[in-house]
Amino acid sequence: MTKRMPENTTRPPERAFMVGVELHHQKNLLTLEESLNELALLANTAGLNVVGETYQKLVQPNVQTFIGPGKVEEVRALVEELQAEVVLFDEELSPRHQRELERIFGDEIKILDRTALILDIFAQHAHTSEGALQVELAQYEYRLPRLTRAWTHLARQAGGGAGRSGSVGGVGLRGPGETQLEVDRRDIRRRIANLHTRLEKVREQRQQHRAQRKRSRLPVVSLVGYTNAGKSTLLNHLSDAGVYVADQLFATLDPTTRRVELPGGNTALFTDTVGFIQKLPTALVAAFRATLEEIAEADLLLHVVDVTHSNAQAQANAVYQTLKEIEADSLPVVTALNKIDRLADPEAARAALAAYPNSVAISALRGDGMDDLLQKINDRLYEASMPVTVRLPYAEGSLITLFHEQGQVSQSEHTPEGVVIQGRLPGRLLATFRPFQRKG
Ligand code: GTP
Repeated sequence: MTKRMPENTTRPPERAFMVGVELHHQKNLLTLEESLNELALLANTAGLNVVGETYQKLVQPNVQTFIGPGKVEEVRALVEELQAEVVLFDEELSPRHQRELERIFGDEIKILDRTALILDIFAQHAHTSEGALQVELAQYEYRLPRLTRAWTHLARQAGGGAGRSGSVGGVGLRGPGETQLEVDRRDIRRRIANLHTRLEKVREQRQQHRAQRKRSRLPVVSLVGYTNAGKSTLLNHLSDAGVYVADQLFATLDPTTRRVELPGGNTALFTDTVGFIQKLPTALVAAFRATLEEIAEADLLLHVVDVTHSNAQAQANAVYQTLKEIEADSLPVVTALNKIDRLADPEAARAALAAYPNSVAISALRGDGMDDLLQKINDRLYEASMPVTVRLPYAEGSLITLFHEQGQVSQSEHTPEGVVIQGRLPGRLLATFRPFQRKG
């Protein structure tokens, strides 16, 4: 089915036409329609004006053009009729698809895919130097094999803020020709190498911060959640952090850490992280791996779910999926079912609470449920204890003492490699002992 959208006259008009695809074998978390709705939101966030959409169900992608030749013709006619300037695919196009589609649609029409769009949004929203470097690297790695025409905006970007280059509206894809193309490719390779070096330096610094945080022995609570779920709003409410909040996708790209007082005088460090999304481009997962992996070192995950979203469950599943990819799926989780101020029926909140284990209903905006939430987090970190078995090398004397002082030891055995201790530890210490943990 093909739809024409009512026009949005307030936006600077780069008019985009969306193409969705349902692949026979692919298992998606969202339906085709939901995925296209999300793509439209992404497009809006990137400053595009969506003027129409269509989709095709395929057994497998066409080798040349991704969608079939008949569909290409149909899209071409619609693009002309609707005066669209961008064709936006809801899947990642291979470099070959991109080239062929650019050839068919000609110089006046930009071909973009979901990945390029998300990269672009990330580029606009990365605020710290590491985030910006990571996105810039991901953008270059994505572009290199797709460079068919000289990338004229590269020149403009030189010397500019890292990662701020890629506004969709500003991507100038046309250029003088082959020789320039070669220069651009070399240029991109050089920039990639340079970015790797700079990122390495920033990472070393972050490693030091992390070590300091660990030494402080304060438990770390990592906020995770689908993009726009309300993580930044919640962190702001809990800590007056002044984290940027916007009704846009991926408003936050860099972790922000704040101290939060828990009931009973305990303290924890809360860190906000990048919003998750289904079909997160592989290039980005790779670029953000280091940042995401920090999540795996948290003591507790605070999973924020927009319980009013029609796809709340699918979004939560996308988050679990990403957590699995970064091996953070065994951490204890408290789920905050957010935005309950928007629920007309209080029964709905009760039903949701039953659907998510260990959950609390909150409104980060109004502050409802905050005491319950902090109490639950406090219980998980300080009251509840978890069974563990660790082998601590003799060099880790302070950890052996710590286990005896703050945990409950049920069995302890001296082996040539160290002390094997079986017992229970409070949640806040699990991450400290995780490197030494053994199964069983
Ligand atoms: P990303 O940066 O994309 O990961 O988003 P986020 O999870 O940090 O979401 P953010 O806090 O930026 O909130 C997204 C939108 O939801 C903003 O418009 C908030 O004002 C709104 N919002 C957050 N919490 C609530 C809530 O409890 N109730 C209502 N009604 N809106 C909320």
